[in-house]
Amino acid sequence: MSNINDQVMVALGTVIEPELNRDIVSLNMVRDLSVVDGIAEFTIVLTTPACPLKDVFIERCESALIGKAPGIEAIRINWDAQVPTDRRIHGRLDVPMNCIVAIGSGKGGVGKSTVATNLAVCLAEAGASVGLIDADILNPNIPQMFGLGSGRPKVVNDKMQPLEVYGVKLISTGFLTTPDKPMIMRGPMLHSAIRQFFTDVDWGRLDYMIVDLPPGTGDAPLSLAQSFPLTGSVIVTQPQDVAVADAIRAAAMFEQLKVPVLGVVENMSGEFFGSGGGEKFAGSRGVPFLGRIPMSALVREGGDYGRPVALHGVNSNAGRAFRKLSEDLAARISVAMLQGADVIPINFVG
Ligand SMILES: Nc1ncnc2c1ncn2[C@@H]1O[C@H](COP(=O)(O)OP(=O)(O)O)[C@@H](O)[C@H]1O
Ligand SMILES: [Mg+2]
Repeated sequence: MSNINDQVMVALGTVIEPELNRDIVSLNMVRDLSVVDGIAEFTIVLTTPACPLKDVFIERCESALIGKAPGIEAIRINWDAQVPTDRRIHGRLDVPMNCIVAIGSGKGGVGKSTVATNLAVCLAEAGASVGLIDADILNPNIPQMFGLGSGRPKVVNDKMQPLEVYGVKLISTGFLTTPDKPMIMRGPMLHSAIRQFFTDVDWGRLDYMIVDLPPGTGDAPLSLAQSFPLTGSVIVTQPQDVAVADAIRAAAMFEQLKVPVLGVVENMSGEFFGSGGGEKFAGSRGVPFLGRIPMSALVREGGDYGRPVALHGVNSNAGRAFRKLSEDLAARISVAMLQGADVIPINFVG
């Protein structure tokens, strides 16, 4: 009874998505199927443009179809990507962002802004639309890491325009102050100022919003992490025991706020601080270890001169580590958003 397209779909229904562990048909990832002269052509809609697993998809689809579905001799896959939407954002913030991920740490100086910067440029380079909010009130370093001196966002129709560098849209508390005058804000005022970064900035549609939180577990990070719905958090730590002890407190803070910890990044790994602490910590909390970034002069120079190593040192160890980190994090975000969902809630609604 069923025609060839139906039979191909049934066969594709046996192909398991490697990260989400479910079949690609019930995940609604297969689109626009046509079969002509024994060639099955279709589009696979990935959950992130930063997906390194295309080869795995090709291999799995070939072995499910060729010689299995009647008459299929070859396949042709077109690629598309739609980041799933975190439903919890909608209703709480009237903004078209698919997910919001905070970068936190147990203390300052561990490389939180460096990780936020390099993650953002990697995701943007992969083709995602990415926003970055520098919410570190006392040390807004993001503008410098993107090579911006004294950037002042324009206001158009009552909306602040983010500055765009390396394909990333940026807003920083640093844009609102002068370097010698730190912003002094507490509690509710801080709350509403940062909330305005979401609602009163003309972001357009974003696949990923990344927020560089203030370090530690004090007033500021705590109140900020509660100001907007977070899809998840990433904790950056150095490898040594003392730093890890602080990172554990950061993890406890996110857990208390019911913000999933998407993973732990060990930064400045190498001879000086040692290595392994981040992984041990992740294991002990039962959260994913996302990888380690080596200690490297290229990373520091990238930060100082606004040339992120992920772009300007693509083939360096640190550049590679950041790219891998961005892919793994994108996968963790997809998994976190789709856990328990029946179908991929792709397409931003509302
Ligand atoms: N992997 C690394 N190797 C070398 N220097 C690094 C590395 N990561 C960060 N740095 C440098 O360490 C300093 C602190 O990093 P930063 O990202 O500002 O930390 P935080 O935001 O946690 O305070 C910066 O000068 C930065 O360039
Ligand atoms: Mg910082």
